Amino acid sequence: LTDIKSLFTEQDKYVGQKVTVGGWIRSIRDSKAIGFIVLNDGTFFKPLQIVYSDALSNFAQISKLNVGAAVIATGTIVATPGAKQPFEMQAEEVEIEGTSTSDYPLQKKRHTLEFLRTIPHLRPRTNTFEAVFKVRSVAAYAIHSFFQERNFVYVHTPLITGSDAEGAGEMFQVTTLDLNNVPKTEDGAVDFSKDFFGKPVNLTVSGQLNVETYAFAFKNVYTFGPTFRAENSNTTRHAAEFWMIEPEMCFADLKDDCDTAEAMLKYVINYVLEHCPEEMAFFNEFIDKGLIDRLNNVVGNEFGRITYTEAIDILSKNNDKFDYKVSWGCDLQTEHERYLTEEVFKKPVFVTDYPKDIKAFYMKLNPDGKTVAAADCLVPGIGEIIGGSQREDDLEILEKRMDELGMKKDDYQFYLDLRKYGSVRHAGFGLGFERCVMYLTGMGNIRDVESFPRTVGNCEL
Ligand code: 4AD
Ligand code: MG
Repeated sequence: LTDIKSLFTEQDKYVGQKVTVGGWIRSIRDSKAIGFIVLNDGTFFKPLQIVYSDALSNFAQISKLNVGAAVIATGTIVATPGAKQPFEMQAEEVEIEGTSTSDYPLQKKRHTLEFLRTIPHLRPRTNTFEAVFKVRSVAAYAIHSFFQERNFVYVHTPLITGSDAEGAGEMFQVTTLDLNNVPKTEDGAVDFSKDFFGKPVNLTVSGQLNVETYAFAFKNVYTFGPTFRAENSNTTRHAAEFWMIEPEMCFADLKDDCDTAEAMLKYVINYVLEHCPEEMAFFNEFIDKGLIDRLNNVVGNEFGRITYTEAIDILSKNNDKFDYKVSWGCDLQTEHERYLTEEVFKKPVFVTDYPKDIKAFYMKLNPDGKTVAAADCLVPGIGEIIGGSQREDDLEILEKRMDELGMKKDDYQFYLDLRKYGSVRHAGFGLGFERCVMYLTGMGNIRDVESFPRTVGNCEL
């Protein structure tokens, strides 16, 4: 079979030639002696128009086909100058592989994203989702190539873990215990010694702590995999299962961290604009007008950088605009993040040096004793897309911080060992991959950039 992509990218070679393509019918219509099939095979964002006539012995059967049917068609590619499509196939044979029925949910009309969410197994057959998942695939490849070109080692960190990397307590517990008949210890507590791992474990919220250990062997590493959060946030940018890219660099400080994050985002944007022109043109026209110009602007300009304290100064002067009023010490809400990036900077911005009390235990304490060397990258339309920091590399300060937070140091001995054996300044960040895909495509809901989204109260298929 010839990919429809080849017909478009090597048009000169194929015009006048006989080829065979296989795909699914997007639309079909016929008049008495001639019919038209719009066929998509998933290899290219544009379909192939196939013209078939009653010279074919199975003309009647073809004409009865419904949208969604699978066929294999053989015929000659002919140029159609002036028509909507540059060429079409004049079919000499149309083999019916798999029929479809008239109640096929994807008819040739606009369906709402809400409706399409109810059929996650069929929606990749629509233009919008074909474009989203192509961009998602290409963006993932771009991220790997960015890090591989820079000699970062890809580490596969575990998904089942005994620790809570972010210390937020938003974990899905993993257990083989029978919840209807939980074994109890003498004092009535759950007896985890009877559980599979002999102790409570959970799905990872971040690969960071594990990947940090590998940074101390390879200098520059990254992990890119699924992470899980039992966050009770029913928003358009929170999912219970999402993918995260987490690089970790030794001999690097917060500035190096931001520089790498900025270079990575620009690389991915460029890569996707270059490798998915048809899909990006579609998003630009139908999903988010002006998207391509905006992304080109992002690539061509430096990101903003501002400290948390400076940001609070700006925001508190505009408190009348917010539902949630800010003051120094509070965490930034989406409305504040979006104000900073959409109204103040009008481009992506790093907010650095947050109060230590609103950030994770592992972040490096600044000399002021109040803030930590953290950096969040905020982008227009979404808000936080990256969270990162320089890590606390001083054993004593880290232990003190863990004590303050009442953490069980025994569970984190491996992590403390890094500060004991060859400690060095180091930094890393986490890019939420779904938010990155939303940013690249202009899609407004995280449920529409994951194949089978898991959100509060929703785990279909
Ligand atoms: O800011 P977060 O919690 O940082 C970490 O997990 C660090 N351990 C990363 C690191 O330094 N290695 O999460 C990082 C990013 C966020 O900026 C956001 O883009 C995304 O992960 N994220 C989510 N995306 C979708 N749904 C959720 N529930 C998310 N929670 C975080
Ligand atoms: Mg964060």
